[in-house]
Amino acid sequence: METVKDIERAELVTYDEKDRIFHLANDTISYIIQIEESDVLAHVYFGKRIKGYRHHKNYPRRDRGFSGNTPLNDDRSFSKDTLPQEYSSHGGMDYRLPALVIRRENGSNLLDLRYHDYQISEGKPALSGLPHAYVLQAKEAETLVITLKDRELGVYVDLMYTIYRNRSVVTRCVNIRNQTTETIAIEKAASFQIDFTHSGRFDEVIALPGAHVKERQISRQPILAGIKSFESRRGSSSHQMNSFIALTNKHTTEFAGEAIGIHLVYSGNHSFEIEKDQINQTRVIGGINPYNFHWLLAANQSFQTPEILLSYSDQGLNQMSQVTHQLLQERVARGKHQYQQRPILVNNWEATYFDFTSKKLEAIIDEAKELGLEMFVLDDGWFGKRDADNSSLGDWYEYRGKLANGLKGLADYTHQAGLQFGIWVEPEMISLDSKLYRHHPDYLMSEPDRTPAVSLSQYVLDFTREEVRAAIETQLRKLLDTIDIDYVKWDMNRSLSDAYSASLGKENQGEVLHRYVLGLYELMERLTTDYPEILWEGCSGGGGRFDAGLLHYMPQSWTSDNTDAVERINIQYGTSLGYPISAMTAHVSAVPNHQTGRVTSLKTRGDVAMGGVFGYELDLTHLSEEEKNEVKEQVAFYKEIRRTVQYGDFYRLHDPFEQATASWIFVAKDQEEAVLFLSRKLANAQPDFHEIRLAGLAEEDFYRDQQTGQIYSGSELMTVGLYYPDFYGDFQTSLIHFIKVEEGENANERNN
Ligand code: DGJ
Repeated sequence: METVKDIERAELVTYDEKDRIFHLANDTISYIIQIEESDVLAHVYFGKRIKGYRHHKNYPRRDRGFSGNTPLNDDRSFSKDTLPQEYSSHGGMDYRLPALVIRRENGSNLLDLRYHDYQISEGKPALSGLPHAYVLQAKEAETLVITLKDRELGVYVDLMYTIYRNRSVVTRCVNIRNQTTETIAIEKAASFQIDFTHSGRFDEVIALPGAHVKERQISRQPILAGIKSFESRRGSSSHQMNSFIALTNKHTTEFAGEAIGIHLVYSGNHSFEIEKDQINQTRVIGGINPYNFHWLLAANQSFQTPEILLSYSDQGLNQMSQVTHQLLQERVARGKHQYQQRPILVNNWEATYFDFTSKKLEAIIDEAKELGLEMFVLDDGWFGKRDADNSSLGDWYEYRGKLANGLKGLADYTHQAGLQFGIWVEPEMISLDSKLYRHHPDYLMSEPDRTPAVSLSQYVLDFTREEVRAAIETQLRKLLDTIDIDYVKWDMNRSLSDAYSASLGKENQGEVLHRYVLGLYELMERLTTDYPEILWEGCSGGGGRFDAGLLHYMPQSWTSDNTDAVERINIQYGTSLGYPISAMTAHVSAVPNHQTGRVTSLKTRGDVAMGGVFGYELDLTHLSEEEKNEVKEQVAFYKEIRRTVQYGDFYRLHDPFEQATASWIFVAKDQEEAVLFLSRKLANAQPDFHEIRLAGLAEEDFYRDQQTGQIYSGSELMTVGLYYPDFYGDFQTSLIHFIKVEEGENANERNN
């Protein structure tokens, strides 16, 4: 029996043989699993750490009509159909959503998983070929592998759980091993399942649905009877439904209540299914979307699912986000730029689109230098014969003649100006009008004899094939080896379709979409490893592949093609729920805005973009002298606050999805400074006064508003708070920079 003292142990995972209970626990969280009657693996608890757990709350026994019993034990009060479980299978009379569905050669899909054995080890194994959270030292975490096995068949399922010592995080994934003598088809293989009893602890879900130029809008919904799913079928994690959800309840706010953040570390089709069962219990299952998924597993082969990250908070959504942000920043992202302040760039896309010359770009670079920017990025249009969307994808060599001094000339010019040089690529795509297509029409992913669907005048390369990836890799390497490139933006401008690969047999076509993602990861792994100095930025028509998987290779991503400051507030706010600020790039663009036609002030555009990894995306040479001065000030100011914005603690304060105001605050890790963002959408003649209470500051310390010189105690700012400025006009914003001051004269006066 575990005692309070036991939990102070160094071990993070313990097994109580008598009661057959696994307890994963650190200082903040507990995850409890029980081997129940008939060896069914039951979920007991996930949440705040339990001290001195004595296992007295047993799942009640009751005969439920039409919920059958287990063949090993005809106990009518025990049914897999109601018991909360860790990983359910189709069979054994559990009629709720299964986590795993397989089909045998004889056509049967029956599978009845029972506990087989377990193993506990220090550290966390890497997942080969898949992005994952890692450890730097074995002592950081412990891993429990519980193996389930079908009652009759040699199908083994390893459930892997890792608990970090100093994070409120449990990661999960699953490995399916075929130890039979036949080939089995996997029709569904979720990465995790959690069943909650009817306790009201988690009766709401937050998802991040959206669209192109409208990504990650917060949608909070009650969990009602039936099945609800949040998923992507587009071959990528998608603009339409992000691969992050959060479980909450009615009482969860930004600062109070329980929340579990759930990330699938994967960039392909995903699904989160939520089922409320006949007695109001809730099952949550997530992983690769079973739609269009059919994986053949030969005898003695295994299949590894992507990983799930579970972040727990008992202090509301802000804490859940912070736990998640830290995990993604510190143990999912990698590489040289993981903790580096990201350069302030100017990107020429919205400035010139395809229509640029060396002269034009050099003028932008000159201006960028004058204004204090740090990098110039040449976007789409520099390769093949690319002057419009409909050509040259696949031809990753310079468009001769488009740039008078060539690509190298432009890169040199940029470097001589003291700026870094970045470039755009879209490696997974092919245009019919390209050399690559003319030489290798079969590289285009499609079923032979069927005209593939077109989107943005482009097609998808069959990245399941090694030779296709190699054809792109060779070109990209040549580019990176011959031109001095500091940054690469890796774009992907359509959804997948025609999922058919000429290299696979007819029985393997259901593997194409997953193999595509594995191929993509393989190429990204090689390039990002071999070019570690480069800052890689993910992109998919803005934020169409903004997920925890991509972050393992590229520490930042273009948040949205929507650069309208007002709409960006919602997009960035929604994104912050699951992703760190260092991952979100945000640019000031021209007005009228190209996506909405809205006109906002340069200040508003700057203040909003400074809520992410900051840059510009407009023709700097078109700015007036007054605007240039303002840009200079913005750039200088962002340099001052950059570390706090990108690597501080982020708190959402006012929700733009619920009210006319939006606000958030970045607080430096050492609480030495904070940056408060305030905004209001539409003006009215008789406005209410809006007030704001800050968060994350040191209560006992004093902070100076750098603009007014006013000094406040942290405590005052967080309890009494401030009034919003008297905004006049639509779309107004304010950024207030607070710096901690010594408890000097002024501070003391205020305190008395
Ligand atoms: C979509 C990206 O999101 C834009 O920023 C830009 O790079 C275009 N593609 C270029 O085609």
